[in-house]
Amino acid sequence: MTEPQRHIPVMLGQVIEAMSVKKGGVYVDATFGFGGYTSAMLDKADCKVIAIDRDAEVLGRARELKAKYGARFEFKPGRFSNLKDLVAQRVDGVVFDIGVSSMQLDDAERGFSFLHEAKLDMRMSQTGRSAYDVVNGASEETLADILYRFGEEKKYLQIAPRILVRRAQKPIETTT
Ligand SMILES: C[S@@+](CC[C@H](N)C(=O)[O-])C[C@H]1O[C@@H](n2cnc3c(N)ncnc32)[C@H](O)[C@@H]1O
Repeated sequence: MTEPQRHIPVMLGQVIEAMSVKKGGVYVDATFGFGGYTSAMLDKADCKVIAIDRDAEVLGRARELKAKYGARFEFKPGRFSNLKDLVAQRVDGVVFDIGVSSMQLDDAERGFSFLHEAKLDMRMSQTGRSAYDVVNGASEETLADILYRFGEEKKYLQIAPRILVRRAQKPIETTT
């Protein structure tokens, strides 16, 4: 694995202001990543932050923040769609910084970026179906739908059938 770089969160100031972090408050960072929002909230006031992320790669960073902030910080591995189960208590605010982190994009082995030659992967949690499985196994209709809805790709109707032609010759294995 290449050395992960820290993620610099955009709109940090605006987000922290919007969260109105106060002493004694409990806040959820639903997409912990490198913990930029979490640390900023914990530094802003004597509050507690419960952080969630589905990527096990962030555990090292979560341990660092646990060592620094103690009981004021709690990390829960999982998906924010399970927020209700992961965080049973009442909270004062929740922040979602949805997307991929710089660490995920910069680590070639995660297969998120066509800037690096790597095996197709793109799994946030590194479990389950990979981009390789989808690109080489999904129907033309599903591929077109993914390109259109998640990639906002205008040429989805041309690209999807060409993927089927190419993968019939040999599997499409890498990001580039
Ligand atoms: C843009 S980064 C967050 C960066 C973070 N604000 C920081 O300051 O470092 C998005 C994070 O959300 C995580 N993520 C993506 N989908 C998720 C999901 N469904 N549930 C929980 N975490 C998710 C990713 O693993 C990634 O670490």
